[in-house]
Amino acid sequence: MSKKVVAVIFGGKSSEHDISKISATTVMRNLSQDKYRVIPIYITKTGEWKLYDGSVDNIVNGSWEKYAVSCILSPSTEHKGFFRIVGDKIKSIPVDVIFPVLHGKGGEDGSIQGLFEMSGIPYVGCGVLSSAAAMDKAYTKIIASHVGIPQAKHITTYRHELDNMEKILDKTEKKLGYPCFIKPSRAGSSVGVTKAENREQAKKGILLAAENDKTIIIEEYIAGHEVETAVLGNLDIQIAGVGEILAADEFYSYDAKYNNAKSRTVIPAALPAETVEKIRKYAAKIYKALDCRGLSRVDFFVRENGDIIFNEINTMPGFTSISMYPMLFEHEGISTSELVDRLIEAALSGEER
Ligand SMILES: Nc1ncnc2c1ncn2[C@@H]1O[C@H](COP(=O)(O)OP(=O)(O)O)[C@@H](O)[C@H]1O
Ligand SMILES: [Mg+2]
Repeated sequence: MSKKVVAVIFGGKSSEHDISKISATTVMRNLSQDKYRVIPIYITKTGEWKLYDGSVDNIVNGSWEKYAVSCILSPSTEHKGFFRIVGDKIKSIPVDVIFPVLHGKGGEDGSIQGLFEMSGIPYVGCGVLSSAAAMDKAYTKIIASHVGIPQAKHITTYRHELDNMEKILDKTEKKLGYPCFIKPSRAGSSVGVTKAENREQAKKGILLAAENDKTIIIEEYIAGHEVETAVLGNLDIQIAGVGEILAADEFYSYDAKYNNAKSRTVIPAALPAETVEKIRKYAAKIYKALDCRGLSRVDFFVRENGDIIFNEINTMPGFTSISMYPMLFEHEGISTSELVDRLIEAALSGEER
């Protein structure tokens, strides 16, 4: 059997560029060398596409970046692959499947998935609509409420409404009170997220969120456990168990996620069996409602009284050493190399998106 050629795309213009490099390293290390030939494609922070020929071990340190050469993905179905460009020399690189290990804007929001659709090359993960809807928390909330999944009370506001800041703050106090959470609708890794304890902090939080997106969400504060589950597959899905996040900070901030070794994940979460089952059911429900494919991590809060509150869904969850998605499946007896294998199989299954 000839090896399948897999293009792993990583980096990207989003605030999660560096996390993507770590995730891509994990994915590449776990792709079987007997089955796959990997073509690593790097998108720089400014959005240039580069072909990377070096060792997987050097991806994170970036020492190779100056040697990477230009490359582009052809949107034409005639090529089904990339072009390596050096000066006026162009070499075609056909690929069998694309594995985008990109987090956040430009990678997880449907835009690059649109390019994959044009190219006719199968790709891992969610399609255009599901990626875009899951990336946008305000839209995810509309869909989740439509299918009856419990969520935090919230207000959605927009950059163009911020001239009415006092009114927004009045509404926040009337409907949600303090503390409240303020976040950009489309971001990730807690970038632009604020826990506001009073009116002044809320105002600052709204302005900060508005720097990251035109749509801003203000949410009631949910006290309780922060838990996550993982979904794998297209129409026939497998749902992992539930894990808990113990953030070493006031909330699971960027720092608590990636820089604070005291943040911990506990698998399985110490929750009653019926709560776990409910969480898994809600995860399947939102996955289907958003028409997801391949994979997603679905995040919830569980209040002390047992109430489950859906928080968000991530269509390209992290694959770092502390990431919940691969760990939850590891706990199910699915190693990360089997996991990436199954993701590629799902991409190549030919099932409609
Ligand atoms: N309503 C809320 N109540 C309590 N904590 C929250 C709430 N919303 C977010 N958080 C905290 O902020 C973190 C980041 O928010 P989240 O909505 O998950 O955005 P991101 O896409 O950046 O991960 C969460 O992991 C959680 O710790
Ligand atoms: Mg989150």
